[in-house]
Amino acid sequence: MCGIVAYVGNKDVGPVLIEGLKRLEYRGYDSSGICIAGKNGLFIRKAAGRISVLESILDEDKTIPASHVGMAHTRWATHGAPTECNAHPHLDDKKRIAIVHNGIIENYSAIRQFLTAKGHTFVSDTDTESLAGLIGHFYEGDLAKAVQLALHEIRGTYGLAVMSASEPEVLVVARRGSPLIIGVGKDEYIVASDAAAVVEHTTQVIYLNDNEMAVITPKGFRTMTIDDVPVTKDVTAVEFSLEQIELGGYQHFMLKEIFEQPEAIANCLRGRVDRHEGRVVLGGIAQYSRDIVRARRIIITACGTAWHAGLVGEFLFEELAKIPTEVEYASEFRYRNPIVEDGTIVIAISQSGETADTLAALREAKDRGALSLGVVNVVGSTIARETDAGVYLHVGPEVGVASTKAFCGQIVVEVLLALSIARRKYMSQTVLQEFLTALDRIPEQMRHILEQSELIRQVTTQYVKRENWLFLGRGFNYPVALEGALKLKEISYIHAEGLPAAEMKHGPIALINPGMPAVFIATRGSQYEKLLGNIQEVKARGGKIIAVASEGDDHITKVADHVFTVPDTIEPLQPLLTVLPLQLLAYHAAMARGCNVDKPRNLAKSVTVE
Ligand code: F6R
Repeated sequence: MCGIVAYVGNKDVGPVLIEGLKRLEYRGYDSSGICIAGKNGLFIRKAAGRISVLESILDEDKTIPASHVGMAHTRWATHGAPTECNAHPHLDDKKRIAIVHNGIIENYSAIRQFLTAKGHTFVSDTDTESLAGLIGHFYEGDLAKAVQLALHEIRGTYGLAVMSASEPEVLVVARRGSPLIIGVGKDEYIVASDAAAVVEHTTQVIYLNDNEMAVITPKGFRTMTIDDVPVTKDVTAVEFSLEQIELGGYQHFMLKEIFEQPEAIANCLRGRVDRHEGRVVLGGIAQYSRDIVRARRIIITACGTAWHAGLVGEFLFEELAKIPTEVEYASEFRYRNPIVEDGTIVIAISQSGETADTLAALREAKDRGALSLGVVNVVGSTIARETDAGVYLHVGPEVGVASTKAFCGQIVVEVLLALSIARRKYMSQTVLQEFLTALDRIPEQMRHILEQSELIRQVTTQYVKRENWLFLGRGFNYPVALEGALKLKEISYIHAEGLPAAEMKHGPIALINPGMPAVFIATRGSQYEKLLGNIQEVKARGGKIIAVASEGDDHITKVADHVFTVPDTIEPLQPLLTVLPLQLLAYHAAMARGCNVDKPRNLAKSVTVE
């Protein structure tokens, strides 16, 4: 997704911006651009493709001004193809104003018509250029004023940075619906759409809220609303270090994050389980614990992998907390007319905390009176701030586009939430203790599973030429089947379908032909026997069986072609273990097919547009 970095300070701005863009690369992009304030106007260079292309253009250019003020952007195409012309920054037609923008200007064609009628011309296909034109139209020597006037005329979302050739020491930034933070260093300010581009410089940041803006110069900054009402912002510390977002010896972020899961889950549990008292402690929702216990219905809303974690949550809340629960795709929830009765709690699950559909669904639910809870990884993100209360994952930054450790963190938080409700309602202390003990063992059990990475690689490599795979599970492992299929398709581009195993005979069984890989999550549990029956159905048609099974299950080794094992745990916790072999399977398949694991085609880390 698009990324913004801007800088005002005492360093040479070019290298700072390029380094910042590289930190945002993981979010996905298809072109990039830079704007540096010079004595003779704004110096702008853009390039389609990788940031390295922009970097080499700059390396060869002898005309780059020495400057301490500038901004840069990575674009992920929405309006117009990923070309140099459509890359940001965009200029007004007098070339006095430059803008980099994340989000979408919904009424851009009306603005274009308005400006065209006044003689303005446009060179790109983008919505952003209309906003550059509008700011230029209002500009009379005060950039902040012109930005405010323009922002009142637009509909849509933005995180933006604006510069003017006539005010080379001024950077104006603003936000509505697209994140923007200001890093406050010693005599320097770095603005970015993602903390990853800031932490190298400072851990002290200001989070802009919707409809807020800042005017930054080398002498300091002012924050205000876009209606020009001054606002005082707190400077807070970002939670993660630069080291955490670097590779640390792994070939890819995805692999690193898969292997980090034991530690990540231990961090997620830390301080939340009082072993002594035998209880769950969730400080972030303590204020609402009575409403939560009395909830009559839970709606979980999320997208993609987070939705799969939500599906596990549906089972958990019904089975453990005995609260009727449904999980809804955020993109569907936001546009239908959902019934939100008294006593409904809406839980928004999101790694990034910035997913546009999830945010919109959350707002819809809040408007209808629901108590809203966030299950979010990125501290200070929009969803985290807009929910009434919430529980952070604390699994550390997730950089690989394919979500892995966040999925497990989301499930752990749901388990803790379900247990804390259950204990206050029906669950005995003994059963709770069993869960807490089982949770404690998960990190070590994960470590043990990860030791099979090489075996998983060898097996996967045998099947990577097959273009169609099935992933099948039942009960708590049905969401894991969906997640396994999603992981494989998004990074290896193999078509994969995840299904509840019994659904196969209602249609998908027709797909099975000799040699087709079918991955079964076949751990011991309440539906084990039934699943064995489903395995036989696939075998009878020549399918190849790859099973994720319980350690010590001798029977499965006789029916499956390949077996990856996981240690035993309580059934509702199984997804935390069974998903790991599937994450590794997807990773090794992508590697064997020569795919770009951390930056799969067409995908972005954080989907901040509809
Ligand atoms: C898949 C993946 C996506 C995200 C989805 C929601 O690996 O990463 O499906 O899970 O875009 O993102 P968040 O959790 O940031 O709301």
